[in-house]
Amino acid sequence: MRVLIVGGGGREHVLAWAISQSPLLTKLFVAPGNPGTAAIAENVAIGTLDVPALVAFARAEAIDLVVPGPEAPLVAGLADALAHVGLRCCGPNAAAASLEGSKAFAKAICDSAGIPTARWERFEDEALALDFVKRRGAPIVVKADGLAAGKGVVVARTAEEATAAVRAMLGARTFGEAGASIVIEECLSGEEVSLFALCDGTRAVLLGAAQDHKRVGDGDTGPNTGGMGAVSPPARFEEAAQHAAMDAFIRPALAAMSARGTPFTGILFAGLMLTSDGARLIEYNVRLGDPEAQVILPRLQTDLLAALLAAANGDLRDTTLGWRETTCVAVVLAAPGYPGPVTAGAALTGLLEAAALPHVAVFHAGTDIREGQVVAAGGRVLSICGTGPDMAHARAAAYAGVDAIGFPGAVVRRDIGLRAMGEAA
Ligand code: AMP
Ligand code: GLY
Repeated sequence: MRVLIVGGGGREHVLAWAISQSPLLTKLFVAPGNPGTAAIAENVAIGTLDVPALVAFARAEAIDLVVPGPEAPLVAGLADALAHVGLRCCGPNAAAASLEGSKAFAKAICDSAGIPTARWERFEDEALALDFVKRRGAPIVVKADGLAAGKGVVVARTAEEATAAVRAMLGARTFGEAGASIVIEECLSGEEVSLFALCDGTRAVLLGAAQDHKRVGDGDTGPNTGGMGAVSPPARFEEAAQHAAMDAFIRPALAAMSARGTPFTGILFAGLMLTSDGARLIEYNVRLGDPEAQVILPRLQTDLLAALLAAANGDLRDTTLGWRETTCVAVVLAAPGYPGPVTAGAALTGLLEAAALPHVAVFHAGTDIREGQVVAAGGRVLSICGTGPDMAHARAAAYAGVDAIGFPGAVVRRDIGLRAMGEAA
């Protein structure tokens, strides 16, 4: 099989790593990829949002399966454009990608399918939204309806914060059209976990579960980020709970999507809050998480490519997935300044030494090669993955890898996985 992965982050590097182990594979491309994927696949200089160029390349290269990493090309219609020329894609079309592309759409699906989620209301009118905030009070959550690069959610601790968020989104249009409509919802509290399901339009199989660490600082402090580290399996969300969540959050959504004529194919990611009243949906994403993929895929025992192909073919009937009895920890190294504006260009040393350590894998994200030297060239730069029989061993491996790397000024959390072990940072 000739395969094209779309994306250039750590998630796409681990996807390439997993797919490259498949006996089905004959040729692997990554667009645009990164210096990490260049070592195991052929990078193609096409941006993730250049749908026409991606389709033309897939046609010219007789690609058997396209595997999109991020949501943006899916929301922009990559799967539709590929289907139009008879090419296979393991990802939803634009209509089904609305589960991530529009928060109001996702909430409406939850309500129609009886999926537990925070109580919500949608607004386009600033005055009505402000009045709602005034009546409900804080804490309350304000969300831009559309895609806002992970920045469109404000968990407001005070009514003033919520009011400012409403004014910024509906009034000042800080997120442009993505914020022309907003969702205001009940604030939930509890442990957050990420559940991943591989879907073929009607059926779903559990792909794995993980816990992200979204805040930039140790002890879950500071601003939100794309994710500073992840662990799998997550604590307090064992396999039985994961299967129950498949029945509560994934299968009813698939049924609702089929019923409205927009069946979902690809990877459905349910972000869940484990509240004292049970699990609640925070959001759907239509893809793997980053850095969750870096801890899920190394634990997968089954051939990933065969499973992705079965999903894309609409037939997961005979697919069962198996996992290694290991724990995985991924620690992100981000550039100085992250999650704000970052300083690029720092030389990265010790990458080969880190990767040569036992039970350590190094995945690239925002890296580049300048004059033969790997340098930092983005926000999240590397993720270092450690594997072991339990959290303590997996953490030790991951941080041995981190410590082998020279990256001046890197932003790194030292407590990934500690809370899962029941220890404070
Ligand atoms: P999102 O960008 O949708 O992933 O949301 C970012 C983060 O906001 C989530 O990971 C949660 O930590 C938080 N969040 C979103 N919705 C709620 C909610 N209803 N209650 C509490 N926290 C929330
Ligand atoms: N790490 C969270 C996400 O990929 O959305």
